[in-house]
Amino acid sequence: MKARLVHEKPEIVEADALALVLFEATSDDPNPGSLYDARTQGLIGEFYDSEEFTGKALRTALIHRPSGFRARRLLLIGGGKREEFTLARLRQVAGVAVRELKAKGVKRLALVPAGRLEAGAQVQAMAEGAVLAAYEPDAYKTEEKARAVLEEVCILAELTHEARLERGRIIAEAQNFTRRLVNEPGNRLPPTTLGVEAADMASAAGLEIDLLRRDRLDELQMGALLGVAQGSAEPPVLIVVRYQPERPNDSGAHLGLVGKAVTFDTGGISIKPAQDMDKMKYDMAGGAAMLGAMQALAALKPSIAVTAVIPAVENMPGRQAQRPGDVVRTMSGKTVEVLNTDAEGRLILADALTYARQQGCTHLVDAATLTGAISVALGHERVGLFSNEDSWRDRVLAAAEASGEKMWPMPLDDEYKDQLKSLIADLPNIGSRAGGAITAAMFLKQFADPTPWVHLDIAGTAWIDDAKPYLPKGPSGVGVRTFVALAMGM
Ligand code: BES
Ligand code: ZN
Ligand code: ZN
Repeated sequence: MKARLVHEKPEIVEADALALVLFEATSDDPNPGSLYDARTQGLIGEFYDSEEFTGKALRTALIHRPSGFRARRLLLIGGGKREEFTLARLRQVAGVAVRELKAKGVKRLALVPAGRLEAGAQVQAMAEGAVLAAYEPDAYKTEEKARAVLEEVCILAELTHEARLERGRIIAEAQNFTRRLVNEPGNRLPPTTLGVEAADMASAAGLEIDLLRRDRLDELQMGALLGVAQGSAEPPVLIVVRYQPERPNDSGAHLGLVGKAVTFDTGGISIKPAQDMDKMKYDMAGGAAMLGAMQALAALKPSIAVTAVIPAVENMPGRQAQRPGDVVRTMSGKTVEVLNTDAEGRLILADALTYARQQGCTHLVDAATLTGAISVALGHERVGLFSNEDSWRDRVLAAAEASGEKMWPMPLDDEYKDQLKSLIADLPNIGSRAGGAITAAMFLKQFADPTPWVHLDIAGTAWIDDAKPYLPKGPSGVGVRTFVALAMGM
């Protein structure tokens, strides 16, 4: 699907379909479509009068051969209340247009910006929404698809916003790259293959990459990462992707993006129940988000150094597997008693965080499908955000807000540390069941301190269980947009 800008009036643009955002009627403005009434003989007003279309958020009405328009179809999309309209809503509106019209065989679609938001920002949001909505998770279906493909999305705006269109496209395509990786089943994407995908991305994007294999991880004494990997026939790999700015700004900042990549999580000897275990193919969503972010950053060129550190392993039971009660020595020197082999994410992240700090990262963000408990706390809408430093936390929250990814700050008081007591080692890898997402974060904090760090628990948000009108069911690619916005603003 191509996306381009067209500087034309909606009435005269040639397209298979034209999508317009229309707000809810108010007493001041009973017909928000009145702008078009003169040319269309009150076509839109009639929809409001009959209440067939009310402007409610993301509700639609489709009109064939609309009088007064050159486009063959007119799709009215509700923008909700005018004063509550945001770029996040506009991103969704563009997505609704793409998903609804693509399903109807539309090849060429025109989108019209709406309301009082800044024009360039609207162009970027619409490009993102359109490209994200076009993603389909059916990669392994062999039957030829009968429906026509959506070939082109035209955004009606001044051509001066070309760079914003390009930026939106780059970011959304990077997010779709992440989704493609997350969607891959465990047999198709073991750690080695994830490493190959990362290397292909890096060479296409012009980034430096190191793939650290078992021997090197041994030398680095990454006992926690190796302990998780030892039960699998698939060898582990630590993926390190580096971006270096041509002319760094004088902040001296070096962002470390650390992402959990368990390519399949059976739980190991503390094995998971069969129900929904297939979902554990997405236990590498944190790592995949970091690869997507790096792909976008290579094109957008922030003025700080960014290093992605992605520990990739498979968590399997087997005769070599780590046992509950085993003690491992982490790269940091701290020892951990592995009370539950299913709490493996924090083990591989412990060594990855230590490595990122050793590489000189001044600011850390990790993303991980770390705990089922985060879904108990926040459901599937918001990412849980934990931090050891308030101003860094606020910068990440602001980047998330600006890019339309919903996150929520979670507590990390020192008292939660009391749950992490082992009889024989420095730390156990689990606390009590209560507050499971917080004790997991508290465990990670022991390896991030004192570097400013944010931990994002994306277990509840990396996979969409119920399709939305603007997104299909499947991998969400959450995190990518926030990490890009964050690095670009540093
Ligand atoms: N990968 C899981 C967490 C998860 C659960 C991700 C559901 C996505 C959806 C993680 O490795 C895990 O198994 N966590 C355990 C921790 C427990 C043993 C302390 C959990 O959440 O049950
Ligand atoms: Zn697990
Ligand atoms: Zn896991």
